[in-house]
Amino acid sequence: MPPASRLYAQLPWGILGGWHLFVLLMSKRPLVVGNWKMYVEMPQEAKKLASALRRKARTFSGVEVVLAPAFPLVPIVAAALKGSSIKIGAQTLSAYADGQHTGEISAAMLKAVGASFVIVGHSERRSSPAHLGESDASVRAQLVNAHAAGLTAVLCVGEQERDSANGTHFTLVAAQLTSALQTVAPKAAAKLVVAYEPVWAIGKSANEAMRPADLREMVIFIRKTLADILGRTAGVRVPILYGGSVEGENASQLLHEGGVSGFLVGRASANADSFLEILKVLR
Ligand code: PGA
Repeated sequence: MPPASRLYAQLPWGILGGWHLFVLLMSKRPLVVGNWKMYVEMPQEAKKLASALRRKARTFSGVEVVLAPAFPLVPIVAAALKGSSIKIGAQTLSAYADGQHTGEISAAMLKAVGASFVIVGHSERRSSPAHLGESDASVRAQLVNAHAAGLTAVLCVGEQERDSANGTHFTLVAAQLTSALQTVAPKAAAKLVVAYEPVWAIGKSANEAMRPADLREMVIFIRKTLADILGRTAGVRVPILYGGSVEGENASQLLHEGGVSGFLVGRASANADSFLEILKVLR
């Protein structure tokens, strides 16, 4: 039996499969967030990439697209996309709302310079050797601040490694969600997106991405966990994205067989052609 069916058979939440399908059918446009990381560094480069995508926007009108440049580029990209359907996100935000915190960037500042989305708890910040400071507690505080400013938070969760024998990746993802969402009220779920990003699949190539059947198991599990935390009505509405080596060649399979609402794309989003390849598949 393939893993997805095994999971359905073994656990008492087979009903969630049908429920999830219902959600997919009823759901809005797919959502794709381009996480430019530090791939796009210079204002001219950012403007060029944003403008190239803007010119093609009608070819992906069926997809909700968000670009997440580094902080200094947020207002530049916002200006380049003014009046277009493409939205702007930031790659992180401060756990503090304001005050005496040198170098920090608050949710309100991001909002003021054009962001409406923000990525929270990306694995490169949670587990980086540079200790970029994102503990479970700070991720929780970042979510609260993002929501207080009216930003949509893209909460990243995902295991470092797969332990198929013991399924510890399920336990870890549930713990990350439970911790981060402790203080999120069900009504704030309208401004919440969960991005499942298995760390072992990030920054590689399409053939090293997660298998769609494995993704589907995890998506069902995340949906169930969200319903437990936020209540069924709110939990069912939260879009679940996949991130980790998404390219044009694997996007369709991951979307349809994996059962996600869209993608958080890193490397392939930093180039207009490769990003458009993904959007073309989803439109
Ligand atoms: P990738 O990155 O698409 O380069 O794997 C995804 C991410 O880290 O958000």
